[in-house]
Amino acid sequence: MTASILILGGTTEAYALADCLASRPGLRVMTSLAGRTANPRLPAGETRIGGFGGIPGLVDYLRQEGIAAVVDATHPFASAMGWNAAKACRSVGVPLVRLERPAWAPEREDRWTQVVDWEAAVAALQTGGSKRVFLAVGRQELAPFAGLEDIWFLIRVVTPPDPMPHFRAYELLLARGPFDLESERALLDTHRIDAIVCKNSGGEATSEKLVAARERGIRVIMRERPERPCVPLAASVAEALEWVDRTLGRGEP
Ligand SMILES: NC(=O)c1ccc[n+]([C@@H]2O[C@H](COP(=O)([O-])OP(=O)(O)OC[C@H]3O[C@@H](n4cnc5c(N)ncnc54)[C@H](OP(=O)(O)O)[C@@H]3O)[C@@H](O)[C@H]2O)c1
Repeated sequence: MTASILILGGTTEAYALADCLASRPGLRVMTSLAGRTANPRLPAGETRIGGFGGIPGLVDYLRQEGIAAVVDATHPFASAMGWNAAKACRSVGVPLVRLERPAWAPEREDRWTQVVDWEAAVAALQTGGSKRVFLAVGRQELAPFAGLEDIWFLIRVVTPPDPMPHFRAYELLLARGPFDLESERALLDTHRIDAIVCKNSGGEATSEKLVAARERGIRVIMRERPERPCVPLAASVAEALEWVDRTLGRGEP
């Protein structure tokens, strides 16, 4: 009998998991994307795009599609979807695992200020006297920083912000990771960056800026991950695959 598995996607881990599972016989693999990106890369298997309509919508979807297991592989900062998934899966009795890459941790030489929201990050920039700040927070989270008129910003995003908040002085850099150490060093040096603001996304694609900052003694304002519901965790695609096999009671063919 075919078992249906739902992957809540939007991360490289979700694509990798779909790649591994889609070729397995007797398994229907559905990845769900939020629909924030125009023309997203489509994962292996089937894809659905757009919100479910909150917890009730997800409950209906799980029932209608006869989903046997759910992997929440959304981004560490996409917590609303994680809470909805936990509540919907519990109410329908569908097993759920959270696939999440480990967070970055500061090393001894690091100069991190860890904050829980952007308000605290703005306050940290104001008290820290930073003048040239590398903002790597994502295109939808720029607005809280636009009022800092004494700071010049280097803003790196994958796609252009729309609308672009009104910054007094900035340069917009469109680039998609992964970023290597040499280019991150050059970026910080060329723009004479004295502080970085970013989210604790974890993973290797965007971690080299932290190494370059450490080498230079540059301050990092690091937004910590939001609180998550208490569900089983897989720290890698391999661990998620093991969970799927255990949960569906089957081994790799
Ligand atoms: N936040 C980030 O920094 C970040 C970075 C990289 C990628 N992403 C990806 O972008 C997507 C949206 O992020 P977000 O921070 O806006 O999420 P969020 O705050 O957790 O979710 C907001 C709403 O968007 C819908 N949604 C989110 N992920 C979905 C998915 N995979 N499939 C279907 N609907 C989804 C849900 O709508 P309904 O309530 O209507 O179901 C959810 O309630 C996520 O899938 C995430 O993996 C986010």
